[in-house]
Amino acid sequence: MLGIETSCDETGVGIVRGHTLLADAVASSVDEHARFGGVVPEVASRAHLEAMVPTIERACDTAGIRLSDVDAIAVTSGPGLAGALMVGVAAAKALAIGVGKPIYGVNHLAAHVAVDQLEHGPLPEPCLAMLVSGGHSSLLRVTDVTGQDGGVDPLGATIDDAAGEAFDKVARLLGLPFPGGPHIDRAAREGDRVYVDFPRGLTSRRDLERHRFDFSFSGLKTAVARWVEARERSGEPVPVNDVAASFQEAVCDVLTRKAVDAAVSEGIEDILIGGGVAANSRLRAMAEERAAAKGIRVRIPRPGLCTDNGAMVAALGAEMVSRGRTPSALDLPADSSLPVTEVLV
Ligand code: KG4
Ligand code: ZN
Repeated sequence: MLGIETSCDETGVGIVRGHTLLADAVASSVDEHARFGGVVPEVASRAHLEAMVPTIERACDTAGIRLSDVDAIAVTSGPGLAGALMVGVAAAKALAIGVGKPIYGVNHLAAHVAVDQLEHGPLPEPCLAMLVSGGHSSLLRVTDVTGQDGGVDPLGATIDDAAGEAFDKVARLLGLPFPGGPHIDRAAREGDRVYVDFPRGLTSRRDLERHRFDFSFSGLKTAVARWVEARERSGEPVPVNDVAASFQEAVCDVLTRKAVDAAVSEGIEDILIGGGVAANSRLRAMAEERAAAKGIRVRIPRPGLCTDNGAMVAALGAEMVSRGRTPSALDLPADSSLPVTEVLV
């Protein structure tokens, strides 16, 4: 199964055989966006166009196969940036026609879940999946990762900024480069986690009544901005490491608290964390600790499989085949707002 991912700024082409990863080629346009402090959709689309063919060739070389050896093509149909998705979907259709093989248009979020099979074997179903990245923050009850019969059920999501977006915006406030997550992670290691008691969004008793499994990070981002401004006005230096550590603590506290609460309330014994923010060292440690206290297991793919890549799309495509799902029609769309419940388009 060859999988193509182009929903954001990574051109990913992965090749898998069942649960075995054969190749995972990724070309990122992140450096071209850095000076804008965020991903510029049109720049991303053009970068995908340039990277697509070389990345496909690189993946085939690594896997030691020719395109004609591929049994089927999988591609991210959505959600994501419309223009970026279109490049991947068009490439996948061309390949499917060229090699005369079926095509599976799949959901990016479910692919973040399915990828864990490449590292830790068959998915425990049901599992509670927490997806945290620059574009999404959601809690999902997964009983069937291919989405059959309501197999992917959203329990909650962010009502404003995504977790990774909060990391990126706060990094910018602190003068750290884009994307900010890894820089905050690093700075926080030298900082004091309780230096500032930043707000934990949607955790008050009143908020929990309506938003028990939802997230909100924009209030936290504003609180950090206010704190930094006040410190700058006072003429004292901003303790970057301490602010980074305190901010990171607030994000990880809310994410892990809600994930464990959701698993317990659903009677689920396995939590799976995916998306770029799953690479965060504090999130990994806190999730393990809090889940273990409730007898819950945590699975997190290695960081390279957490960020966007083609292997995750191939992994979900392979699952579609092994569960006998009908391939997509050749006119399958690129759908920027594809709902998480729609796993196969
Ligand atoms: O999954 P991903 O590669 O792309 C999206 O679909 O958004 O996630 C990228 C996001 C960025 O916001 C980045 O700052 C964040 O993941 N990220 C991290 C870390 N590594 C990447 N956030 C916190 N800690 C990290 N170590
Ligand atoms: Zn993603």
